[in-house]
Amino acid sequence: MIDTLLEINPVAQSRISTVDFDNLQFGRTFADHMFMADYADGQWQNLQILPYQTLQFSPALMTLHYGQAIFEGMKAYKNEAGDITILRPLKNWARMNKSAARMCMPELPEEVFMGGLTELLRLDAAWVPSAPGCSLYIRPFMFATDEYVGVAPSKTYKFLIINSPVGTYYSKPVKLRIETHYVRAAKGGVGFAKNAGNYGGSLLPAKLAQDAGYDQIIWTDHKEHRYVEEAGTMNLMFVIDGKLVTAPISDTILDGVTRDTILTIARDWRMPLEERPVSVDELIEGISSGRVQEAFGAGTAAVVSPMYAIGHEGTDYALPEITADSFARRVYRELDDLKLGRKTDTRNWVYKV
Ligand code: COI
Repeated sequence: MIDTLLEINPVAQSRISTVDFDNLQFGRTFADHMFMADYADGQWQNLQILPYQTLQFSPALMTLHYGQAIFEGMKAYKNEAGDITILRPLKNWARMNKSAARMCMPELPEEVFMGGLTELLRLDAAWVPSAPGCSLYIRPFMFATDEYVGVAPSKTYKFLIINSPVGTYYSKPVKLRIETHYVRAAKGGVGFAKNAGNYGGSLLPAKLAQDAGYDQIIWTDHKEHRYVEEAGTMNLMFVIDGKLVTAPISDTILDGVTRDTILTIARDWRMPLEERPVSVDELIEGISSGRVQEAFGAGTAAVVSPMYAIGHEGTDYALPEITADSFARRVYRELDDLKLGRKTDTRNWVYKV
């Protein structure tokens, strides 16, 4: 259905020859085209694919004042047969609509999200890198476009998808600091939604942690800073006494697609698994006693990012080195095999563009 509604204006000349695919930085280079749709008069309209370009707005653009802005993240891979694949994009579509509902924004019909994504990737297929660890990062996002400075939900919105060829988000194992002062999310808040403000609020604490030599923060609960939640850029997973342990999804933790994918694989592998609160005390004692065997982050951008140490109240606790047969490495390989078509997709996860 989208074919008849979508207007496509391809670039006259691709910029791809100017890109150094051997030195890709995360999120700095953008592919030739973008998808854009407008919401007005209660419906999505004006669906178009056009050259990636600057947009012009009024200074009264509501997003700039009250932050009605949400986004998603996915990755496209080129598999060994040359197909462009994405893992479970419908999960991202569903989560985008959950974020939209919380932020009082309109939902996106599946044919706009998936149709726009598919046509855009077909046009920018040459931008999907094939080097190990590289992919085309897909950034769908929606924002309020009314010109109004009163506090109210906007009546108009834009939805866009832009694509960026990327290497790894974290190029080596990371050191994270447990945050015991700042708070990312509180019960009843917007922590589960991928709205821009969650990330804006994390910048200062993350910068302070980075200035102290850490790569990121481990957020803790807003009441007591007693339980670990997520890392902002990724969900957190631990192998404790041979069990995969992760915090349960709640309204303060993002329902990560990679998180769910890894938990499903772990269940299929009959790996003992617990979704339960993990206290800071359990973590620190467990690292010291050797019960914590692995700690890693899981996310679209981060994929599976092992931690080499966790900092808490001025002390760094070193984690065991991740070995080739560790869960983190095995599940990373499993994900790679699925994305690259080396393994049969028995769970119907792989979407071929
Ligand atoms: C993602 O993993 O796609 C994210 O959105 C996390 C981060 C890059 C903001």
